[in-house]
Formats: sequence, C-alpha cells, structure tokens
Amino acid sequence: MESVRSASSIPCIPTISGIRAAVASARAEGKIIGLVPTMGALHEGHLSLIRKARSECGLVIVWIFVNPTQFAPQEDLERYPRDLERDRALAAEAGADVIFNPSVAEIYPEGFSAWVDIADLGDGLCGTSRPGHFRGVCTVVAKFFNICEPDKAYFGQKDAQQLAIIRRMVRDLNMRPEIVACPTVREVDGLAMSSRNAYLTPEERRQAVVLNQALRAAERLVGEGERDPGVLDAAMRQVLASAPLADVDYVAIVDAENLRPVPTVWGECLVALAVRFGATRLIDNTAVRG
Ligand code: PAJ
Repeated sequence: MESVRSASSIPCIPTISGIRAAVASARAEGKIIGLVPTMGALHEGHLSLIRKARSECGLVIVWIFVNPTQFAPQEDLERYPRDLERDRALAAEAGADVIFNPSVAEIYPEGFSAWVDIADLGDGLCGTSRPGHFRGVCTVVAKFFNICEPDKAYFGQKDAQQLAIIRRMVRDLNMRPEIVACPTVREVDGLAMSSRNAYLTPEERRQAVVLNQALRAAERLVGEGERDPGVLDAAMRQVLASAPLADVDYVAIVDAENLRPVPTVWGECLVALAVRFGATRLIDNTAVRG
C-alpha cells in the first residue's frame, strides 16, 4: 500500500550529490525514475504532471528551480512567486517523493559557459519576443536530465513550443528520458492555469478568458472545414479585440513538429497565441487537425 505522504515527510534536497544518491538508491531497488521540472509556485497544472508521474514511476522527483538563464533582464525573475513550504506540501499531496531545489550557484557555478541551443525551433513564436529564452530552458533541462538521469520526464502541452523543442533536443542529442506530454489544465472559465495569472488585476483576469475563447473559435472553424490560416488568424484576432486590455503579441498557425507557419491547415497543426495584459504575458495553444 502507498504510504500516506505529508509535507514534512518529503525531503527537499538542495545538492546535486544528494539527489544523485537518492536516484542511485531508487534505481538499485529497480524503480523507474520520474522527473517533473518546474519553477515552483505550483498550481493544478503542475500537480497534474506530478500525479501522472506518480502513476507511472517508482521515484517521483519534483524539481523546483527558478532558472535565471531563461529570463531576459527586463523580465520577472525577481518578482517570480516563490514559496517552498507551500510547494512542498502540494507536491507531497500530489504524490511526489522528493523535491530537488538547488541554489543558482549549485546549477551555474562560477565560470559556467556551456549552452544547449536548438537552431530555428526556438526563434519563432515566443522566441521572437523572448530571444535567448529557449537556450536557457534547453540548457537547464539538459542539466536536469544529466543530474537526475530520469527514465521519464513530464511536461505540459500548455508550453507547446517548449515541449517541441525539448523533444527535438532529446532526439538530436540522444538523451535518456522518455518525454511525457500532459494536457493543459484550465480554470473553470477556460483560462489556462499559469503561475503568472497571479499578476493579473481583477479586470485583466476577467478579460484574459479571451485567449481560450479565441482558440475555441479557431477549433470551431477548423471543425466546420475551414483550412485557411489567414481566416483563423482574423477570427482569433477579432475575439481578442473584444478585450480592451489585451495587447496581442502573436497569433500563429504552425506545423506541430517543426513550428513553421503552414500555408494550409493540413495534418496536425498547432494554433498558438501570446497576449499581454499590462506587464503580464500569457500564452495558450490548441492542437487542430486538418
Ligand atoms: P513552469 O512554468 O513552472 O512549468 C513547469 C511545467 O508545468 C511545464 O512543463 C509546463 O508546461 C507545465 N504547466 C504549466 N501550466 C500548466 C497547465 N495549465 N496545464 C498543464 N501543464 C502546465 O516550464 C517551466 O516551468 C520551465 O521552463 C522549466 C521547464 C521548469 C525549465 O526551467
């Protein structure tokens, strides 16, 4: 029988040597190692990844690390929400065995200079307004994989570009883990859960529902047989325009694997958007099949 976990029963390990020892002893017992990489401020989206890992793995590691190399200087690194004790209790309840919460110095020692960069996939969509972001993500995720050597690693479809890039990195660099994609968890009104939703004012939060509404409009059109990305783009922008506080960063209809804009909706495509409300940038996406 599963033992009952409480917040105090799961350890937080801040060192690479410590987490490697935990992994080695679990592996010696024949356990499958599962890793859930996060930046903390856990919500139901993260918890769904942890629950999925729990159902498939013998050791579930939740990585909590606000990765400085994926934030640009003007972004929200300093104000990114941090509450380790709350995260620890939530992760434990969802079935995590251990939290790995290294310091920045542990992950990026003095003189750190090796980077993992994925050509072209990281340039469009979010990469356009966040240059260097995916280089930071790939580098830290490669480090997660080298440090924890997981059999399986869990990522959310909410960050579809990140997921596609990580799959490519694993394929091209022959990395060990199987990448498990988990569906986007939403609030009751359809807004995708995100740690950044906490930044929204009540009025911005009310209007933020347009992201999901725009995606549903695109899905509806594809369902009715529309195949022209220009028509989908215009319909989504029209929905987004109904929110006066929404400042559209991009709307894109791209190939699900190479993330290039498609001339027509054919096969598996990704409809993705990014919208700013004040200083807060929200993203969302849906898969459509033409
Ligand atoms: P973070 O934004 O904390 O997200 C951690 C994981 O949770 C990601 O795989 C993300 O896609 C997933 N996630 C976030 N919101 C979700 C939702 N509403 N439904 C389902 N899954 C959701 O993504 C990162 O951190 C970082 O870039 C990281 C991969 C940890 C590297 O630093």
